[in-house]
Amino acid sequence: MSVGAHPSQPAGTEEYQPVFTEQMLEQLNEILARYPTRQAALLPALWLVQRARGWISDRNMAEVAEVLGLTPAYVKGVVTFYTMYHQHPVGRHFVQVCTTSPCNICGAEAVVQALLEATGAKELGATSPDGKWTVIEVECLGACGFATPVLVDDDFIESVTPDRVPELVRKYK
Ligand code: FES
Repeated sequence: MSVGAHPSQPAGTEEYQPVFTEQMLEQLNEILARYPTRQAALLPALWLVQRARGWISDRNMAEVAEVLGLTPAYVKGVVTFYTMYHQHPVGRHFVQVCTTSPCNICGAEAVVQALLEATGAKELGATSPDGKWTVIEVECLGACGFATPVLVDDDFIESVTPDRVPELVRKYK
């Protein structure tokens, strides 16, 4: 199952740069070849967009919907369901901290505060002034026995405590 033509730009989007260039369409076609339907390829297609743009705008979602033959509302529903997809620009390093009850009891809130301070992000969901960091809280990361688990980009780090945070942040600078 392949995609041959570039999707048309939505009306009134003169400055919008389509994400699905020829090269991106080639990558999308490689993905589509591994899935039984276009709809089934939605998650990896969204990853493709996020890797290219850093986040997924409404227009990007409309473009994905068009190339996969879905509705923009369906694509938006998927994007908004998963915290791993960014609906606005984020820092170069995206930090996710589990604050669900078991981790909370073990001090996750203090880890969050230490991360906000050490990164300069200051507030959950905000990006640090140097553009490097965004920290968010997430639900259970599946490592409840290793509180507090933290995801920095694709790195999974267990048993993070507030005193470990400065060293952790330095490692990514
Ligand atoms: S509750 Fe934190 S990893 Fe499960």
